[in-house]
Amino acid sequence: MPSFGKLARHYDRLMHNVPYAMWASYYQLILASIEHDPDSVLDVCCGTGTVAEIMSQNGFHAAGVDLSPEMIREARRKAIEKDLEIDYFVADVTTMELGKQFDSAYSFFDSLNYITTPEGLHAAVQRTAAHLNRGGSFVFDLNTEFAFQEQMFDQREVHPNRRLRYEWTGTYDPESRLICVRMEFWTKEGEQFVEEHHQRAHPHDEVLTALRDAGFRHISAFDAYTMNPPRARSDRLHYVAWGLGE
Ligand SMILES: C[S@@+](CC[C@H](N)C(=O)[O-])C[C@H]1O[C@@H](n2cnc3c(N)ncnc32)[C@H](O)[C@@H]1O
Repeated sequence: MPSFGKLARHYDRLMHNVPYAMWASYYQLILASIEHDPDSVLDVCCGTGTVAEIMSQNGFHAAGVDLSPEMIREARRKAIEKDLEIDYFVADVTTMELGKQFDSAYSFFDSLNYITTPEGLHAAVQRTAAHLNRGGSFVFDLNTEFAFQEQMFDQREVHPNRRLRYEWTGTYDPESRLICVRMEFWTKEGEQFVEEHHQRAHPHDEVLTALRDAGFRHISAFDAYTMNPPRARSDRLHYVAWGLGE
């Protein structure tokens, strides 16, 4: 049951209420607040590329990388349909070698929680930094442990009129900081499939160490989608790292 395989074709339908345009605006607000004015941006774990499309439409040279060939297939199809020039790569962020440099990178929707070891997180930040020009920035969000403790993944949408129905159940192990989410889906066309998603609640200190080790000079963290500091009950944080190699 690999994640983001069968789901890829239905992903945008599932995400139809997600405020991606607001996320892109928030990213641009953060860039303005750190006085960084990138030309090229890399969407790390871009999925079907919706934020990369918005960044491209906003005038950036956008590229995206994702582990799932099915998600990248959707992203490429959409870019062609919308006549957008976005480079997409299939690669694992922990080992990627894209042969290109960017001014800034971002990673949204708890994508880096899908990296389930401390070494993996460290490698993902290192490999992202290796694709940034000097002075580059990296902005990403992470689910917190509080989100996992609060069972935020336990969700269901089973109304018979919905084109995609689903039921998700998460089991969190505080020892390993890993949550395993069983996701069952039913489409209106009669397809049924299950995916198992695994995420890790990366400790704040590990994230800061990974960013410092990668060479970012400045690091901030915010309660998600605000410019306020993290709270004990924040279920998502945004990390902002900039001044790479300065
Ligand atoms: C929740 S989705 C978010 C996708 C997109 N960022 C969005 O906002 O819609 C998480 C994505 O992370 C990708 N992913 C997970 N582990 C990865 C890895 N090691 N390297 C690259 N992509 C990865 C998955 O394939 C999936 O597309």
